[in-house]
Amino acid sequence: MTLTGTRSTATAGPELVRPPTLPAPRQAPAPPNGSGLRKEDLHGSLRDPVLDTMNFLNEITHRYPEAISFAPGRPYDGFFDTEQIFTYLRRYLDHLETSGASPAEVRSALFQYGPTSGQIRELIAESLRRDEDIDVPPESIVVTVGAQEAMVLAVRALIPGPEDVLLVASPCYVGITGAARLLDVVTIAVEEAEDGFRCADLEAAILAEKARGRRPRAFYVTPDHSNPSGNTMPLGTRRELLDVADRHDILILEDSPYRMVSPGQQLPTLKSLDRTGRVVHLGSFSKTLFPGARIGFAVADQLVTDRTGATGLLADELSKIKSMVTVNTSPVSQAVVAGMLLAAGGRTSQLNTKTAAYYGDAMRVTLTELATCFPEDERAALGVRWNEPTGGFFLTVTVPFRADNAALVRSAEEFGVIWTPMSYFYPQGGGDRTLRLSVSYLTHGQIAEGVARLAHFIRSQGHS
Ligand SMILES: Cc1ncc(COP(=O)(O)O)c(C=O)c1O
Repeated sequence: MTLTGTRSTATAGPELVRPPTLPAPRQAPAPPNGSGLRKEDLHGSLRDPVLDTMNFLNEITHRYPEAISFAPGRPYDGFFDTEQIFTYLRRYLDHLETSGASPAEVRSALFQYGPTSGQIRELIAESLRRDEDIDVPPESIVVTVGAQEAMVLAVRALIPGPEDVLLVASPCYVGITGAARLLDVVTIAVEEAEDGFRCADLEAAILAEKARGRRPRAFYVTPDHSNPSGNTMPLGTRRELLDVADRHDILILEDSPYRMVSPGQQLPTLKSLDRTGRVVHLGSFSKTLFPGARIGFAVADQLVTDRTGATGLLADELSKIKSMVTVNTSPVSQAVVAGMLLAAGGRTSQLNTKTAAYYGDAMRVTLTELATCFPEDERAALGVRWNEPTGGFFLTVTVPFRADNAALVRSAEEFGVIWTPMSYFYPQGGGDRTLRLSVSYLTHGQIAEGVARLAHFIRSQGHS
């Protein structure tokens, strides 16, 4: 490090690695202060804690880099191979050529703006048919920038006015509550019991909203290995939920990105059980293929009729909104994802046999370590318990103290372990004494050490 004058490469600043031919950047001018922007004059969502939760977690993770973090819901890095991106891109280009595309068409397919609804819809429809028993025409699919964009499009289209509400299973993924907040859409939380969601609670919430003169329009839920709780909805509840939706004329937004990264046979999706067009299925390749591609999709095969009686698909309406949000999803990203699907014979599941086994083992290791660190009699005395998800990335631990930001800072600083306060995921409050552990991003060795540290932390907190 004598050349750089720093103690290690890690402490070397960017100026040391900048190519010598590039001029040093000019000092950034001080921001103009005459405009006098006040936060109160910006959109209200920017003062909503829901938009800050992830920032706080990132900050903690950066502040305590030595801590073992059970916070990120990211796939394990060990499965990614940079060279594969080129192989998959080539695979898709070969597919276009063998399907009769001219060199100019192949070039456009990568370089140009693409169709707003996406250019790999046939392949996605095929993978849904093979893997998920979801049989829909490609025209009912909109390829999106992650499931996140699909949420924005669906919420914007389906919840039109201030008297309309979006019901959400609670706790729920912050992406949906954040999207609703950005769009000034009212969300009503339907709280899950400890063992999962109950249809009676949804029905009660629908009736209560109707009694207040509001129109419940849709219900958002993650039926499989939910983020954050880890719970999975039993088959009977799925059927019951579809009945409730029918009876009360609401749509269901099904967001289930953890199915194929979970071991064993999965229960049928709500969409595959749906006989009356109640389900809009929101898809994501972030956990199954790779999140950097930012490829997701919405399956919206519902018919929409206008005042003249003309009909079209809900997908077409979502596509109109998308044309004003992201115009189209990156064709390069779509091409890589398409190459992956083609290489796996059109099945996302084929690409996930190893990953599902790995994450299944990670969950098992976590549960075993928790059981070892907290023997049964001590567990009850301490008031510590956890659920036992059969897949996915997350589990919930109940603790005998407030699992808030202050506790998290102490856990990171003094015990070297980071987790997510479950209260982040309750849109209308709750979850104060529970925390979320994500098991996906760590090695099994890190999990064992992390759980031991967590156990020390929990014991040190006692009841408070
Ligand atoms: C339930 C759920 N939905 C959607 C997403 C995000 O999907 P995407 O990366 O496709 O936007 C996540 C990511 O953590 C998630 O947990």
